[in-house]
Amino acid sequence: MRIGFIDSGVGGLSVYQQVQQQVAADYIYLMDNKYLPYGEKSESFIQQRLYQLSEHLLDLGADLIVIACNTATTQAVEYLRQHFAIPFVGVVPAIKPAAALSLGHGFAVLATPATANGDYIAGLIRQFAPNDQVIKFGSSELVRLAEDKVWYQQDVQQQVSDILSVSPLAEHHSHIVVLGCTHFPFLAEEIKCALPAATVLLETGDAIARRVRQLVGEKLIYKKQYQHCFISTRELNEVQTNRLIQLGFDQHQCWPMPIAS
Ligand code: DGL
Repeated sequence: MRIGFIDSGVGGLSVYQQVQQQVAADYIYLMDNKYLPYGEKSESFIQQRLYQLSEHLLDLGADLIVIACNTATTQAVEYLRQHFAIPFVGVVPAIKPAAALSLGHGFAVLATPATANGDYIAGLIRQFAPNDQVIKFGSSELVRLAEDKVWYQQDVQQQVSDILSVSPLAEHHSHIVVLGCTHFPFLAEEIKCALPAATVLLETGDAIARRVRQLVGEKLIYKKQYQHCFISTRELNEVQTNRLIQLGFDQHQCWPMPIAS
């Protein structure tokens, strides 16, 4: 079993970390850092790009692909399912669980600009939370801060607090906040620190892991040594390459390969 992951950056690692704890398989994490942030791209660009990346993972033998990105899932997962025969697992903001918790008192969604302003999330809100006031806030700046934190272990508390202090979340004080971007679980501590003490953050990594486990069967313990391969679409620097080893990847490649001069 070979499971592929796709995201624009490190965000999908928040999902990958949960899945690989529950499912024994070979993993290929394909990071499209050439086009980060996805949250500022058009739907047609995301669809074409995800098609290309999925084709590459299929060529590498992926049996299942996790679109570990809310932006790409909300814009392209249906398109991919129409074009490829393997299963695609997507990640969408936890609107339904938030509505179940809020009991009609409203909640907030933190996402990328594309997800926050997109039709998909509007549809989820109409369907599952018609009586809630839902505050949506899209920020690519938070995506960049999550990248800085994961790669360079930078302290980003002040920047996260500054961004949230001028966001609609500061005015509305929602006690439930949906993390609608896979980068944001990496900022969970900073986001909690910037919001009122009782705020509950909702993320989807564990639910995705259970879904993948259900699709591939309950095989948890194998004796085989598994491969964890990381592919980036733009070259990584030395700090990033070393960080990958700490994150548990045993191989790294750049795709497409740089042209030799
Ligand atoms: N991690 C992504 C998401 O869940 C995309 C971030 C971006 O590239 O804008 O939406």
